[in-house]
Amino acid sequence: MAETMQDLLEIELLDALSAERQALDGMEAMLDAAASQGLRRAIQEHMAETRRQIERLEQAAQMLGIEPDDADSCEGIQGLLEEAQEMIDLMEPGPLRDVALVAAAQKVEHYEIAAYGTLCALLGAAGQPQAAALLAETLEEEKAADARLSQLAEREINPEALRRDQAANDPDRRGAGSAA
Ligand SMILES: [Fe+2]
Repeated sequence: MAETMQDLLEIELLDALSAERQALDGMEAMLDAAASQGLRRAIQEHMAETRRQIERLEQAAQMLGIEPDDADSCEGIQGLLEEAQEMIDLMEPGPLRDVALVAAAQKVEHYEIAAYGTLCALLGAAGQPQAAALLAETLEEEKAADARLSQLAEREINPEALRRDQAANDPDRRGAGSAA
């Protein structure tokens, strides 16, 4: 039970730590399911980043005298990853599944952005500027990862899925100029 700011900080920090560890497994599954080379690269890069982010959380835990091995399972991320797995299981490999993977990955990033935003604010308020600065680095990485996924979807993955739709479902109207 949380009765003090320190208690709450501990809960939030351990939740983020568990979330990142679970997200790493989730990304492994997403990597296996992704067809686009660009998406595979983005996932691989973020997996490497996530390993460093886990280290930062462990460091921050140490600064606060929190035992990082006490991290429980993060149910929020678990739910998001279960949804991602459902989509993977429902769809054939290809551009449409890649669109679904980007959506799933961005939901995870947004969860993490919210978690790190809160952690930075709580650490700042609790007079822990070093730990706050450490996690602020991660917060920026999460925002950048999210932006990278948006860009990838807009430039490559969404148009490719739409092209496939048009080719498969509407062969008579191909090239008719209806871009809506
Ligand atoms: Fe992330």
